Amino acid sequence: VQVPTTVLAQVDSSVGGKVGVNLAEGKNLVGAFYQPKWVYIDTDHLGTLEPAERCSGLVEALKHGILAAAELIDLIGAEVESLLAGETAVFTPIIRRAVAVKAKVVAEDELEHGRRAILNLGHTLGHALEADAGYGRLRHGEAVALGLRFTLALSARRLRLAQSKVDRVRKVLDDLGGPNDWAARINESVLNRIDLDKKNRGEMVRIIGLRDLGDPVIMNIPLGEFKTLVTEMAQAEQERKMR
Ligand code: GLY
Repeated sequence: VQVPTTVLAQVDSSVGGKVGVNLAEGKNLVGAFYQPKWVYIDTDHLGTLEPAERCSGLVEALKHGILAAAELIDLIGAEVESLLAGETAVFTPIIRRAVAVKAKVVAEDELEHGRRAILNLGHTLGHALEADAGYGRLRHGEAVALGLRFTLALSARRLRLAQSKVDRVRKVLDDLGGPNDWAARINESVLNRIDLDKKNRGEMVRIIGLRDLGDPVIMNIPLGEFKTLVTEMAQAEQERKMR
């Protein structure tokens, strides 16, 4: 039985049976699938969290919205102030919707032979940044938010994700607060961590892109090409921010 008491655990880790530990080399590198018999979610717990922790968890809920429930993006966007202030009743419809998205994906592919990998949206770079900062320095959701910003830019560039959709999600990430400087964090050490992501297959990086909100796609990019792409995009992002 699981009783998750953070937003992050309620919308993500308590659903789907993944149990794992982080190694110094990378995030969740040892793990298994072990489904709980029961998950009991009480949003009253969320009022006791630090605002930054609420914000971190909401990034995973936002990710579920981006993947399959665009209305969730706007729902979070409209309620950011109350959510960060810890008004627990406001969380209930958001948690319910986010859990429903994840449960559906997991029910279709429990052991991640294919489709479940879409839940990794924003996580390839996010995990590398989180591990490189040192666990506990960057919250998981903060790292995923940085990864999502990169994914939005990548999807606009490679998959023609419309700029209006990029801006719609970016606005909610801005409003949630937290670090937004993914490009400034790119260096050799972060790039080398991408090699170790457990989701990769051989020399290919498996990355989740977006053709549209609600339309994720699994992309396999050769590791060397991916590192060059991240470096180029980081430069472009730095220039965009200076304009
Ligand atoms: N957190 C990703 C998954 O459960 O598959």
